[in-house]
Amino acid sequence: MNILTILAHPDPGSFNHAIAQAAVEQLKINGHNILFHDLYQEKFVPNLPASEIPKNAFVDPAIKKHCEELVQADGIIIVHPNWWGQPPAILKGWVDRVIRPGIAYEFKDGEGVPIGLLKAKTAIVFNTSNTCKERENNIFLDPLETIWNNCIFYLCGVKNFYRKMFRIIVASSDLQRKLWLDKVKKTVNKYYPELNNSELPFD
Ligand SMILES: Cc1cc2nc3c(=O)[nH]c(=O)nc-3n(C[C@H](O)[C@H](O)[C@H](O)COP(=O)(O)O)c2cc1C
Repeated sequence: MNILTILAHPDPGSFNHAIAQAAVEQLKINGHNILFHDLYQEKFVPNLPASEIPKNAFVDPAIKKHCEELVQADGIIIVHPNWWGQPPAILKGWVDRVIRPGIAYEFKDGEGVPIGLLKAKTAIVFNTSNTCKERENNIFLDPLETIWNNCIFYLCGVKNFYRKMFRIIVASSDLQRKLWLDKVKKTVNKYYPELNNSELPFD
């Protein structure tokens, strides 16, 4: 299966990078075709220009390639820290530019109801934060759940959604982080298990 993994964190030594690495390692072990983007490393340009807003607009070739990979993806993994209850701006820009009308969703003529177009069946979001669960849910109302599950993936037709928030990063021990990375691998293994021989991509 084609599994698209998107990482948004500026520090290669971050725990987010370790999460993405663990996820990709497990995908490799399971025989999947890996589509991977480290948005900071590739200097992804997040600003959506006016010219790209219309459904049938000409889009920058780099964005077109991202769109093609999103369309091909049978599964999606997103990795990012909680920054003010939101993804880092570079990832918000990826959403704005890549999760496009005609690619990920469209509206029926005259009706304000979106139709999801993505073929990916499952999306996983791995987040990190420094806020305890009670405070995140009760005071901040867990905005990342609303953004990724309701506003983005459900709307685009990806109905099987799993999100895991690792916390509290700043107070975590090496052992805790190791256990969390094991959890990442187990989660990837559960949602994107080892392929049968008949499903393996041709060389
Ligand atoms: C700009 C910025 C905004 C942040 N906002 C939040 C926040 O709203 N809630 C929170 O729990 N942590 C917040 N943090 C802390 C990060 O979530 C935390 O540093 C990160 O998850 C740790 O993972 P890392 O080691 O991979 O960087 C913020 C950090 C930065 C740099």
